[in-house]
Amino acid sequence: MTPRLRPHALLGICFLIASPAIAQQFDPAQVEAGMTVYKPAVANCEPCHGYGGNGALALDEYGGRGTAFGPPLTTSTMTRAEMIDAVSCGFRNDWLTMPQYLQKAWTPERPCGGKVRADMKPEESPLLAGRPLTEAQIEAVVTFVQAFYQGGTMNREKCVRYWGDRSTACNIFAQ
Ligand code: HEC
Repeated sequence: MTPRLRPHALLGICFLIASPAIAQQFDPAQVEAGMTVYKPAVANCEPCHGYGGNGALALDEYGGRGTAFGPPLTTSTMTRAEMIDAVSCGFRNDWLTMPQYLQKAWTPERPCGGKVRADMKPEESPLLAGRPLTEAQIEAVVTFVQAFYQGGTMNREKCVRYWGDRSTACNIFAQ
C-alpha cells in the first residue's frame, strides 16, 4: 500500500504552550527526575557545575588557573550523545577531574572514545563516582542539563524550581 499524506493528518499537529524559561521539547517528568540526580543527595553535580549551571569555583580563586573547576554547562556545545558519554565516562587530566558515573564505562562492553581502562595509565583513569548512576539516571540528568542550562541563563522560574518557593535564594531575581 502506498502511504499517502491525508490532509486531516495535518490537523493532528499539537500546539505546545511555550514557556519562556524551560525548553518544552523535553519530558517534564524526566527534567524533574534529572534535577534530583543533579543535586547533592544523589550525584552531586552541583558543587562543580553550580546550581545555575554556570560553573563553579573559579580556579583563579583556587590555584590561579583562570578557569572554572567545573565548566559552565550553559555554554556547552555538546550534543546529547556527547553529554551522555561525558557523564558516563568522566574526565581526568593532571588538574581537572570529573567522576565516571557509569560503573561499566571503560570496559569492552561500554568503551569510552574507543578506549577501555587497560588502555590508560592508572593516573589517567577517571575515578568512579562514590554513588554511580544507572543509564536511566544519566539520561535524566542530561535531559535536565539540556532543558535547564544548555543555551540558557538562570532566571527566577528556574531558580524557584531548583530551591523551592520557600527559599530566599531566588530573591535576587525580580518577581
Ligand atoms: C568534581 C567535579 C565535577 C563533578 C562532581 C561533575 N563534573 Fe562535570 N565536569 C567537571 C570538569 C572538570 C569538566 C571538564 C572536563 C574537561 O573538559 O576536561 C566537566 C565536564 C562536564 C560536561 C561537559 C561540558 C562541555 O561542554 O565540555 C558535562 C555535560 C558535565 N560535566 C556534566 C556533569 C553532570 C551532569 C554531573 C553530575 C552527574 C557532573 N558533571 C559532575 C567536573 C565535575
